[in-house]
Amino acid sequence: MSDIKKIKEEYSIRLDNKLSLAEVNQIKSDLLGKTGVISLEFKKISQINESERKKFAAELNETKNILQEKIEIKLNEIKTLEINERLSKEKIDITLPSRPYNKGKIHPVSQTIDEISSIFSEIGFNVEEGPDVENEYNNFTALNTPDNHPARDMHDTFYLNNNKEKLLRTHTSPVQIRTMLKSKPPFKIIAPGRTYRSDSDQTHAPMFHQVEGLHIDKNINMGHLKGCLNYFIKEFFEVDKIKMRFRPSHFPFTEPSAEVDIGYELKDGKILIGEGNKWLEILGCGMVHPNVLKNVNVDSKIYQGYAFGIGIDRLAMLKYGINDLRAFFECDYRWLNHFGFDPLDVPSNYRGLSR
Ligand code: PHE
Repeated sequence: MSDIKKIKEEYSIRLDNKLSLAEVNQIKSDLLGKTGVISLEFKKISQINESERKKFAAELNETKNILQEKIEIKLNEIKTLEINERLSKEKIDITLPSRPYNKGKIHPVSQTIDEISSIFSEIGFNVEEGPDVENEYNNFTALNTPDNHPARDMHDTFYLNNNKEKLLRTHTSPVQIRTMLKSKPPFKIIAPGRTYRSDSDQTHAPMFHQVEGLHIDKNINMGHLKGCLNYFIKEFFEVDKIKMRFRPSHFPFTEPSAEVDIGYELKDGKILIGEGNKWLEILGCGMVHPNVLKNVNVDSKIYQGYAFGIGIDRLAMLKYGINDLRAFFECDYRWLNHFGFDPLDVPSNYRGLSR
C-alpha cells in the first residue's frame, strides 16, 4: 500500500471515533500542520520521476481534500453538540419580574439653559463659563461698581472671608471681565451659570441662575441690543410677536442702562406671552461703560457694545408654568418627574426647542 493510502486509511478511522475538540485539532495539525504527514508528502513531489508525478500529486490532493472535509464535518458536529448541551442546561425563567428601568429627567433650569444657548449660538454667540467663587475685583471693581454701592453690602453678598476678597458671584457679569481680559475684541459671548445673593422668598432664592450676554465690536449700538433681545425672546417663547419695552435704569457697568419688560396676559390661569397689557421684568442691559472697557484694556474709541443679564429661573417659570421658584431647588423626585425633560430630546432650533 502506498504511503498516501496508508495515511488516508489510518486517519479516516481515527476521525470516525468519538473525539473532543482538542483531539480533532491535534489530528488536523498532525495532517496539515507544517510538519504534518500530508505536508511532508507534498515535499516529496519534486523528487518523484516525471511519469509518476502527476498520479502521485492527484492522489495526494484527493486524500488531502477528503481528510479535510472529514475534519470540517467533525468540527461542526462538536459545535452543534456543545450548543445543544448548553440549551438543555440553561433555562430562562420567564416568570421572573423584569429589571427596573429608570430614566432620569433633565431639570427645567438645565433645559432652559440649553434652549438659551441654542438660540444665541444660532446668531454667533460663543458660550463662556466663569467660577461661582469670584474675587471682589471681577465681581465689582472692574465692573465700575463703587465701594459704597449697596450691592457690595454684607447683607446682600455672601463673602467667603472677612477681608471681602472672595465672594460667591452676585451676577454673571464678572464673566464679561474674564472673557475680555483673556483675549482681544471683537467679543460675542453668553455666559450662563449660578449666581448668589442673600435673598429668600417665593420669587427669590439665595442661589439662582443668570445668563450674561456681551457683544463688543466696532460700531455696535443700542439698535443691535434691541434687535438681539427681540429675536431671543420671540425664539425662546416660540411666539411670532412680542411686546417688549425698555425702561431706563441704572447699572454701574452700563451707560445708558435699561431694564426690559415683556407684555403678557393671564387667560384661564395661564400666562400668554406677547399679548395683553401687563408687564413683566425679565432682564437688565445697556451699553458697556467706557470705564469697564478701560479696565480690560479695550479702546472704547474703537470698540463699543452692549451687555445684558437675564434671569434664567424666571424665564423657565414663565415658559413652563411653574409658580414657586423654591420647588426648583428642593430636589423632589416627583416634581422633577412631572416638570423634567427627556434627556434624549436635546433642544435645537430646527426641531423645535421644547415639546
Ligand atoms: N448684572 C446685572 C444684574 O445682575 C444685569 C446686567 C447685566 C445689567 C449686564 C446690564 C448689563 O442685575
